Amino acid sequence: MLQKIKATANFIKDKTDFKGRTAIILGSGLGNFVDKVEVQHSLSYKDIPNFPVSTIAGHAGKLIIGRIKGKQVLVMQGRFHYYEGWSMYDVTFPVRVFKMMGVENLLVSNAAGGTNYSFEVGDLMMITDHINLFGTNPLIGQNEEELGPRFPNMSKAYDSELCEIARSFARSNNFKLNEGVYVGLTGPSFETNAEYRFLNTIGGDAVGMSTVPEVIVANHMAMRVFGVSVITNNGLDIPEEGNSHKEVLDVAVIAGNALEAIFSAVIEAL
Ligand code: HPA
Repeated sequence: MLQKIKATANFIKDKTDFKGRTAIILGSGLGNFVDKVEVQHSLSYKDIPNFPVSTIAGHAGKLIIGRIKGKQVLVMQGRFHYYEGWSMYDVTFPVRVFKMMGVENLLVSNAAGGTNYSFEVGDLMMITDHINLFGTNPLIGQNEEELGPRFPNMSKAYDSELCEIARSFARSNNFKLNEGVYVGLTGPSFETNAEYRFLNTIGGDAVGMSTVPEVIVANHMAMRVFGVSVITNNGLDIPEEGNSHKEVLDVAVIAGNALEAIFSAVIEAL
């Protein structure tokens, strides 16, 4: 595993001369964020050795290196989902590669269903904690001590300083930034009514099919994590026609502007 991670990290470094400290993972429908990036390099996942290749609509599958607010960043436009059939190892492989490239900060975004009665469709939720309901864990298997400890702490999975930067940015720019707990589960089916209510009962504010594996692996390797969910649908008030992937993508694109502002503010402070 280590050899593959190092080989891929070296490939990207040789090709791009990346020297930044921050990586960003863009969720479903949030790919427009790259318009804010002064692009220096763009690599298709299919051209990166050992990288899985994303298969679903709305996930472009590109690794972009560029500048934002004068800082060099690495952006994953499209991530790998467990429901696509990738292993937990594949899903989290890029995060491990980024760490080997010197990345210390990971910014993650996703589209999520709301399970908090006060959230509205189109809102943003800063992730302050998560609940792993994938039924598995990306760290299962032999532990690579070079990457991190066997039993990593998860009590500070989302960096409180970065949360405070985003909080004060939202306050002083007068926009709504909810906060809450993200529940990650496999999908790909959306939740039943009973499941959405259950997630609300156990303390979940938003639910999605990503992010948790990457955040666990990032914490294992002592990276600082900041995460935002775009609430694309409300699980506690499902429309008559039900949930749809199209609705998720449409709302994500619209809410993308606010997300870009928050990520830019955090990047500027890093
Ligand atoms: N459930 C799971 N994942 C999602 C949802 C949802 O309601 N909306 C967007 N991603």
